[in-house]
Parts: sequence; C-alpha cells; structure tokens
Amino acid sequence: MAIKFNRVDFKYQGFDNKGYLALSNINVSINAEGEFITLIGETGSGKTTLVQHMNALLTPTSGNVTIFGLKIDQENIKKKKFRLNPIRQKVGLVFQFPEYQLFEETVLKDIMFGPKNYGVDEATARERAIKMIKVVGLDESYLDRSPFNLSGGEKKRVSIAGILAMEPDILILDEPTSGLDPLGRDALLRVFNDIHQKLNKTIIVITHDMNTVYEYAKRVLVMRDSYLVYDGDPHTLFSKKNIENWNLDIPDIINLLHHLEKDFNITFPKQPQNVDELLTMIEEVAK
Ligand SMILES: Nc1ncnc2c1ncn2[C@@H]1O[C@H](COP(=O)(O)OP(=O)(O)O)[C@@H](O)[C@H]1O
Ligand SMILES: [Mg+2]
Repeated sequence: MAIKFNRVDFKYQGFDNKGYLALSNINVSINAEGEFITLIGETGSGKTTLVQHMNALLTPTSGNVTIFGLKIDQENIKKKKFRLNPIRQKVGLVFQFPEYQLFEETVLKDIMFGPKNYGVDEATARERAIKMIKVVGLDESYLDRSPFNLSGGEKKRVSIAGILAMEPDILILDEPTSGLDPLGRDALLRVFNDIHQKLNKTIIVITHDMNTVYEYAKRVLVMRDSYLVYDGDPHTLFSKKNIENWNLDIPDIINLLHHLEKDFNITFPKQPQNVDELLTMIEEVAK
C-alpha cells in the first residue's frame, strides 16, 4: 500500500486559537499502480486538506499517514533527521492554480526545476522535459517559450509536465480544470487518462464535474464536513438511493437515463457506462 491514513484528524489553528477541524477520523488506502480516483465534496469539506496529507505538506494533528513506508505523525515530524524529499518526489501534487507557480524564463527551465531540485543531473532533467512536454500534449517548440505568454490551459499543462518530470508514482491534481473552457477541460482530462494508462500511474483528481467522475474514475472518494463518507465505485455512488441521500450533482448521462425511464416509461437493465452503451440499450429496448 503506497499511502495509508490511520485515524487521521487535522485541525487548523485559527487566529482565535480555537482551531478548526478539517479532517475527522480518516481511514483510507491508496495504491501506487493504476488507480484513477476522483475526490469530490462541497467547498470546505476538506478535499485540499486531505490531499495535502498525501505528500506530507500537512501533518495529522492526531493519527498518522504512512507514505511509501514513512510514517508521518506529530512525533516523527519533529525529529531532526526526518527526510521528506523521497516521498515528495514519489507523490506529485499539482496545486489548484499551478500556473501561478511558474517562474522561470523558459518552459524548459521550469519543467527541469523540479527534477534538478531532487538531485537529477542536468542532462537527465532535460531529457525528461522533452519527454513530458509531449505527454501533456504540447510539442517541443514550447520549451523555448516564456511560460508567461501561454494560455491558461497551456500553463496548466506545463505545470503538470514539471511535476511529471520528477517521475512521481502518484499524481494528485487539485481542481485542475477550474478556469478552463469545456474544450480545454476535456483535452486536459484526456491527458490525465493517457498518463494513467500509458505510464500506469495512480491519478487522484479533485473535481466538481460529475461527468468526469462517471466517465473516468474507477474509484470515488466523497468528503463531507471533514469526514470521508464514501469510498467506492461511481456506479453505486450514482444509484438512485445515493443521489437522494447525498444531494449529489448528477452526471449528464444518468440524468438522460432517468428522463428516458420516466417520460417513456422504459426500464433499462443497468446503468450505462457512456453514451454509446446507452444508445445500444435504447436500440435493444426499442426492438
Ligand atoms: N489555512 C487555513 N486556516 C484555517 N482554516 C482553513 C485553512 N485552510 C482551510 N481551512 C478550513 O478547513 C476546511 C477545509 O478546507 P479545504 O480542505 O480547503 O476544503 P475543500 O478543498 O474541500 O474546499 C474549510 O472549512 C476551510 O475554511
Ligand atoms: Mg480545495
């Protein structure tokens, strides 16, 4: 198991010193290979706080998180020789607006910054930059450009290439598609899916877009008021009972299915995975 939360509570120390409980009794495990997880929940439910525990940016107030064998808790984090670099390299975290963190004069230098910072030599860092700019769907000509003269979507891609160049086993993206138009959003999601499939990395995406959840995720985590309230597959999550209980937004395809069932009094044998499957089911029913 790559990451394991064990009874994690996290409290932000507010200015009034009362503290604010952002995580309550979190127990969850993440594999290093091949998971595509989406993390959803209302604003303020604790999503960002949760993922910041996955590469030890935050330390549990109580309980512990084990990340690639390293146990993060209050006691260990205070030890002088406790080294976080190895896990920071293994778990790549892309912040919500990563484009604000680009600062080098060229895209190439920006992508090379991370790996060099973790001790990779110049030539290897350059090789990785050339590889990763393509993985995120841009061509090599971008490497000589200034990151400041790129579109929002291009900047996000460059930031992601920078994290990928550190060769993390797990890639975490905090609302990566916010601020993008639908086309930009879809393009970026395909990039994540590619990374997941071709590089066999575990991807964790925080999102508000239920279509993304339904179409891409094999596993969904739902946060609510600092608690992890669901950990399972998207199909079950969007079953009728849960939609009512959880007050969830509904993926377009499920909405369409419900309309068809209600307005035409059709009962479909199961929930379709995508539009093609729904069309096939309609053809079957129409026979
Ligand atoms: N630096 C901080 N100091 C105090 N409270 C914070 C801080 N960051 C987040 N919080 C609070 O913790 C809760 C969870 O925040 P967050 O993890 O950012 O939620 P989400 O990402 O789901 O919107 C929120 O109520 C938020 O106001
Ligand atoms: Mg957040």
